[in-house]
Amino acid sequence: CGIVGYLGTQQAASIILKGLQRLEYRGYDSAGLVLYDNAHFQMFKTQGKVHDLRQLTNFDATTQTIGLGHTRWATHGVPSDANAHPHYSNSGELALIHNGIIENYESIKKVLLAKGYHFISDTDTEVLVNLIEDVQKTQQCKLGKAVQIALTQVVGAFAIAVIDKKRQDELVAAKLGSPLAIGIGDNEFFVASDASPFIEYTNQAIYLEDHQMAILIKGEAPRLRWIKDDAVSEYDIHELELSLEQIEKGGYEHFMLKEIFEQPNAITNAFRGRLLPALEMIKMEGVQNNLSQFLEAKRIIIVACGTSWHAGLVAEYIIEELTRIPVEVEYASEFKYRNPIITPKDVVIAISQSGETADTLAAIKLAKEQGALVYGVCNVVGSSIARETHAGAYTHAGPEIGVASTKAFTTQITILTLVALHLAKEKGSLTKTEFNELVHELERIPEKVVEVLQVSDAIKEIAQSYAHATNCLFLGRGVNFPVALEGALKLKEISYIHAEGYPAAEMKHGPIALIDENMPVIVIAINKGHYEKTVSNIQEIKSRKGKIIAIVTKGDVVVKEMADHVIEVPETLEWLTPLLTTIPLQLLSYHMAVLLGKNVDQPRNLAKSVTVE
Ligand code: G6P
Repeated sequence: CGIVGYLGTQQAASIILKGLQRLEYRGYDSAGLVLYDNAHFQMFKTQGKVHDLRQLTNFDATTQTIGLGHTRWATHGVPSDANAHPHYSNSGELALIHNGIIENYESIKKVLLAKGYHFISDTDTEVLVNLIEDVQKTQQCKLGKAVQIALTQVVGAFAIAVIDKKRQDELVAAKLGSPLAIGIGDNEFFVASDASPFIEYTNQAIYLEDHQMAILIKGEAPRLRWIKDDAVSEYDIHELELSLEQIEKGGYEHFMLKEIFEQPNAITNAFRGRLLPALEMIKMEGVQNNLSQFLEAKRIIIVACGTSWHAGLVAEYIIEELTRIPVEVEYASEFKYRNPIITPKDVVIAISQSGETADTLAAIKLAKEQGALVYGVCNVVGSSIARETHAGAYTHAGPEIGVASTKAFTTQITILTLVALHLAKEKGSLTKTEFNELVHELERIPEKVVEVLQVSDAIKEIAQSYAHATNCLFLGRGVNFPVALEGALKLKEISYIHAEGYPAAEMKHGPIALIDENMPVIVIAINKGHYEKTVSNIQEIKSRKGKIIAIVTKGDVVVKEMADHVIEVPETLEWLTPLLTTIPLQLLSYHMAVLLGKNVDQPRNLAKSVTVE
């Protein structure tokens, strides 16, 4: 979910609605807004998107300068008007927005029901706002104190903002597990799940830490406290560097397309200052500062979810090959809950675009408890994972708004390749020539990506022939096997066509049964890594009348003869091929989804940043 609160002198509704739209990547199944003025609340909620919320009234005519807004990704209770936030307390005196999950809400609800409270939604959030009200009533305390006491009784994750009818000019916010940024303007405060809603108003921000709360009173400095013991807490004010232009579409029809086309720059930004071919070196500070732990590591464990997990799988091939350090890749959610064996001799690498994925955060905490060094690869600067890890590298891909991840994936692979190269150099596991060849070739990748992007229109034509498909198979070998997984995930996410990724050689052990003349099979068949074997796999598909779309190396003639369609990518070194082969697969899903009329940037049921476990 995404939350935005405003307390100041400007018209609150337009700031909040615009902010919510920027946070829709966090969920978009329902939206709501409460405005406050002169001891009076005005509430608007609807199932649907922020766009639907805007239709409820003429918000331009509203004059309130305080308000809270929410865009939801359902956890408790179906998407509906009633379950949309904000939620009032029973007396109607408090209004609250919440991102996260209150795990013990049922037991709290029972107690409150026994005291005569009633509930109109199925949400854990309505329980929380009434708990705060109950504390306020029974202990006769002010809003801040009541929030603090209530939160000590809560198990789970939250980023909340709450306002009280009786307390004009005050907003209380708190955080545990879910992100919360506070923007400090001139006689005004913003609270939001990230800084994008207030970037054009102020570049001064405080990122609340877990267990922290903030009492914001107009005209006064922010007051931060620790929830656990109510002690005053210090804070740093960060200067934000995000620009508004960076988060807008810039002429593209969809954010996803914009982000696909940004990859040459994104990859360059990822290696800028780190890839130093002239000096024959790689500069990864987080690795260098912890070099002995990396070099003496018994193994590297990579934890991540979704697309980031696929980047981890690509990295497994690259790191093992270049450094000979054993690598394991785990779904963060599985890792956390299966009592994994971790020792201080392990290095854990956590990969996350948003830096907020709850499962990944939980895995990091566990690894830290066991004494492992945790290295983060995140895109969002200042995100929770970036702060929780001992060391790390930002991908510098720029804001990724499209829910289906694209440039985050290729920049994650870039960073992990740099890590592998840095370690290989220090370890001496590559010859000087091998090292220099890889370093020079990596530098050339962005221009090769530019070349691949030119096939977008040709891919659109191919997409036209297959948009009616109900199933697709993606095949690849070696370091391109995870790319096949990612290709299938992209297609599933945005076109809702069922797709599976398989190692090309595994096809004959099961999926081959699915192949007939209606089944498009996308094969990564570049001239590296057992090309001849992949050619045989293509033959197997062809003899069962499957339709073949092959990603080949420029100039390929063998596969061209056999496949129904070929998409060429420039020649490069085997370990760098995923940075090129991924691009046509992203474009293929994009064009299929557009042809099918799907909402490319905000596919159903998904959220870009999943801050619940
Ligand atoms: C969500 C998104 C995926 C993403 C995954 C991990 O499920 O829909 O696109 O890959 O989370 O996100 P992260 O921000 O940790 O990379």
